[in-house]
Amino acid sequence: MRISVVTLFPEMFDAIADHGITGRALNEGLLSLETVNPRDFTEDRHRTVDDRPYGGGPGMVMKVAPLAQALTAARRAVAGQGEAVPRVVYLSPQGKPFNHDRAVALSRESALVLLAGRYEGIDERLLEQEVDEELSIGDYVLSGGELAAMVVVDALVRFLPGALGHEQSAAEDSFANGLLDCPHYTRPEVFAGHRVPEVLLSGDHERVRRWRLAQSLARTLSRRPDLLEGRQLSDEQEQLLAE
Ligand code: ADE
Repeated sequence: MRISVVTLFPEMFDAIADHGITGRALNEGLLSLETVNPRDFTEDRHRTVDDRPYGGGPGMVMKVAPLAQALTAARRAVAGQGEAVPRVVYLSPQGKPFNHDRAVALSRESALVLLAGRYEGIDERLLEQEVDEELSIGDYVLSGGELAAMVVVDALVRFLPGALGHEQSAAEDSFANGLLDCPHYTRPEVFAGHRVPEVLLSGDHERVRRWRLAQSLARTLSRRPDLLEGRQLSDEQEQLLAE
């Protein structure tokens, strides 16, 4: 998968390029990640990318022209021969909530352009003309879209075939089956008087599976009951919840 990010702060993306699963996906060629800086498409001495808002008010707004050119460059950078034009996703608190399903769907694109804004926002005309989808990573305001873009990249990389060492992992994560993940333990068996649950030492795979599912259900019910609303549980899940 090829991703190009339009950002005023390209260095921020070193954080995911140099570390962990995203770093490995890049090294192994499962992912390519490049950045395009709108400042490189300005013509004035100060390389101005923002201006005062029409109508007045505090803060600055990102100008259309450098962003439009940066997006063209970003699309071109990741476009594939004979493929559809890459989707442009703008990160903003006004976007639809980014979640597991969106991560899975985006991971199926062969190319993607992410647009990270700064300042009070981006001239609406650019959004109307160039953006296919607006996504928010939560109900709070970040100082820019970069962290949100990195969240999106990190979340979707996990669904690229071969990106996780253990192929089952993505399928077993929280949300993969609509439930929160179960608790995990490793050695030692006793830490500060707290024992690992006995069932996990039993070697009985079926008991372990049922315990994990029961834990997932109980956690989801207590922490995120909204995830269970309007959901059809299996007979086994109903039975475990009732126990
Ligand atoms: N940019 C600023 N805040 C954001 C948020 N919550 N989600 C996505 N992009 C953002």
